[in-house]
Amino acid sequence: MGCYFRAKKVFWSSFIVVFMSSFTFAHPDSGKFLSDLGIDVFPDRAKINISLQEYTRVISDFLNSRDMSFEPVPSLRVYKLDNLIKHHRPQQHIKMIFPIGITTDQIESASLRLLMPPQQENPTIANVQIYQILGTRRKRLLTEDTFNLSRNLSKWCEVNVTEAVASWTEGSKNLGLELTCESCSNNLNPEIAAITALVHPQGRRIKRSPKKGRTDCSARHQTGKGKKKCCRHDMMVTFTKLGFNEMKDIVEPKNYEAGYCHGMCPPNYNFATNHSRIQGLMHQLDKSYFKQFKNKTSIVPKTCCAPSKLGDLEILIVSSHDPTKLKVEKWHNMRVLECACS
Ligand SMILES: *[C@@H]1O[C@H](CO)[C@@H](O)[C@H](O)[C@H]1NC(C)=O
Ligand SMILES: *[C@@H]1O[C@H](CO)[C@@H](O)[C@H](O)[C@H]1NC(C)=O
Ligand SMILES: *[C@@H]1O[C@H](CO)[C@@H](O)[C@H](O)[C@H]1NC(C)=O
Ligand SMILES: *[C@@H]1O[C@H](CO)[C@@H](O)[C@H](O)[C@H]1NC(C)=O
Ligand SMILES: *[C@@H]1O[C@H](CO)[C@@H](O)[C@H](O)[C@H]1NC(C)=O
Ligand SMILES: *[C@@H]1O[C@H](CO)[C@@H](O)[C@H](O)[C@H]1NC(C)=O
Repeated sequence: MGCYFRAKKVFWSSFIVVFMSSFTFAHPDSGKFLSDLGIDVFPDRAKINISLQEYTRVISDFLNSRDMSFEPVPSLRVYKLDNLIKHHRPQQHIKMIFPIGITTDQIESASLRLLMPPQQENPTIANVQIYQILGTRRKRLLTEDTFNLSRNLSKWCEVNVTEAVASWTEGSKNLGLELTCESCSNNLNPEIAAITALVHPQGRRIKRSPKKGRTDCSARHQTGKGKKKCCRHDMMVTFTKLGFNEMKDIVEPKNYEAGYCHGMCPPNYNFATNHSRIQGLMHQLDKSYFKQFKNKTSIVPKTCCAPSKLGDLEILIVSSHDPTKLKVEKWHNMRVLECACS
């Protein structure tokens, strides 16, 4: 019994933590956690220079190799702007129309990727605004960003334009984007401009049937009273919601199915090891002994529903050694595959 109540308490405390995270969320020992995951050393943000080619190559491989049995894996779409008007003088207002229209694709995220020209005379820091053009005089501010450009080299910049791309695919008229720098005189005329989008083609946003076995909580895990026996439940984790700034730099995935174990452990049910079986027997022995004589001060606890098989998760991040490269990292034991009573 103790195990079940303990699990309930864990549930409530995690609810409180999630609830409080919208105010303040102090992570104890976060440095250790981040270094365990290998994301405590991150490249200098100002030096990140990931080309369109590098991004599409690495992300395509990454998405192709991902296991679809846990969470839906998006597809990559690239919309390149071919007819960029070459201006001879520095430009501070750039209008770009990408060939994106109504589709049934669900947009997970979309980024504008620009190869910005060298900034010969001007300061290299540009505070830019990106608007969605809504009409001849109407535009909506999507985001403001700081581009740290280079004096003598071109440099890749990335802007989140998910909102605009999603609105176009849902039927808003695509009048394009505008890149401006209101208070500066930088040359914003890009050498290459493209939008990359991660999308879920219609009907694909359903995961494949989970692996058979002790992995899922099907009806057969119900006990008589409707309480579930120990089994694996779904738990979708969104990295950006965990409150670590460093996790915002994970390129993919943005969320993943981690799962958790929960449920009752009746005698002899789904035991993890021979020891678990023994502990279960000892618990029953103690219980009957207690019922009979009421003089037992401690009872061996029931076995607990816990992960018995864990899986790895591959993460795509910017290389800490080379800010022009993306790399795949394997994080071990990041998701529950199977649960058992132990
Ligand atoms: C811009 O980049 C340069 C070179 O990488 C760096 O020294 C500088 O600190 C950066 N400035 C800002 C405001 O990030
Ligand atoms: C320009 O490039 C050269 C190398 O090609 C480098 O040594 C120099 O520091 C750069 N200047 C600036 C201002 O970035
Ligand atoms: C950024 O990368 C491009 C190649 O993708 C390269 O041509 C350019 O010189 C790089 N810029 C800087 C500032 O390193
Ligand atoms: C991009 O913008 C969308 C909509 O504004 C937002 O929901 C999403 O979290 C942003 N993505 C990143 C990686 O910042
Ligand atoms: C229990 O122990 C036996 C003998 O070592 C072993 O063959 C068996 O696989 C074990 N059972 C479990 C569930 O671990
Ligand atoms: C409890 O009572 C039983 C029967 O009277 C006795 O045999 C046993 O030693 C007692 N145990 C404890 C822990 O007092």
